[in-house]
Amino acid sequence: MRTRTRKIDDPNLAAEILQSGGIVAFPTETVYGLGVDATNADAVDRLFAAKGRPTDNPLIVHLADWTLWNMAAKSITESAAALLKQFSPGPITVVLPKRDEICNQVTAGLASVGIRVPRHDAALEILRSAGIPIAAPSANNSGRPSCTTWQSVLEDLDGKVDAVFESAPCSIGLESTVVDCRDETPIVLRAGGVSTEQIRNFFPQTTINTKATSGGSIVSPGTHHAHYQPSAVVHLVQSDFLETDAARKIDTNSAFCGLRTGPNSEAGNLPLELCQLFENTDAYAQGFYELLREVDRRGIKNVYIEIASGDGLSTALRDRQFRAAGQ
Ligand code: TXA
Ligand code: MG
Repeated sequence: MRTRTRKIDDPNLAAEILQSGGIVAFPTETVYGLGVDATNADAVDRLFAAKGRPTDNPLIVHLADWTLWNMAAKSITESAAALLKQFSPGPITVVLPKRDEICNQVTAGLASVGIRVPRHDAALEILRSAGIPIAAPSANNSGRPSCTTWQSVLEDLDGKVDAVFESAPCSIGLESTVVDCRDETPIVLRAGGVSTEQIRNFFPQTTINTKATSGGSIVSPGTHHAHYQPSAVVHLVQSDFLETDAARKIDTNSAFCGLRTGPNSEAGNLPLELCQLFENTDAYAQGFYELLREVDRRGIKNVYIEIASGDGLSTALRDRQFRAAGQ
């Protein structure tokens, strides 16, 4: 029988488990990560198996400081250095040529590697104490909404990973922005905590390409897989949804989430199993995955989600909402 996952709160202990090839779920400012030594092929294989992650989807390598980039990357470009310097520690991942010591499984056989420095005290202490590059995907069963609390991590992975680091809920709640910086013009591959507008302040030519492949070559691997999906049926709706006739006809076994504005303040009048209204976009982003998980915990069949509007973090939230709906 599998032993249960240990709950820990000592960064040095987390580092020791990682150094000896173990798997540790640890908090970051975005979502919980599932860490493993990026140079240990057996450990990386076990991580893919624990998550049920498709092996063609590469992992991000986490470092204690951006100046340690050469622990994972072979070379660095000016754009990568500028973005890391500006936004690290923080919710940005830059893609660079991979260094040989990083296992091929980590990068799904690609010659490139994503590197990131989380803005989270415990994460940084663990990374400093371990002194090795740590590959870490989001700490959830593959395809499910990401985890922003240690309790959610255990819901998915108890008994499958060695330890979970207990900490407060993740503050941003959505994953890092992934930017390919191998050429001087950055390409945003996944929207996240650092907005494209912020990146364009430094590199106005920055492009966006969130397609899995382009012209036969791999651009943003893994984006073609299912992501962030609850068991409930997801219905994406506009901000005036609650004023429409359709809203009055929804199944009573439903949940609604959106911003606490205008018509939504009337949501309490509908016979909903669960209604979560967020004060602003930051709160919506922070609570979004946990809301999806709560819908499933309660066995609710339908979840109505107000589509986030606007740029900045809303772009990342909207991306996750569409993917949660399988679009
Ligand atoms: O905020 C985050 O990034 C979180 C925390 C734990 O750091 N991690 C995370 O990992 O979201 P994951 O595995 O759920 O998503 C990694 C994303 C995937 O979309 C993957 O395709 C992309 O990063 N990625 C990783 N390495 C890449 C590479 N070499 N080239 C292109 N995309 C890459
Ligand atoms: Mg993920």
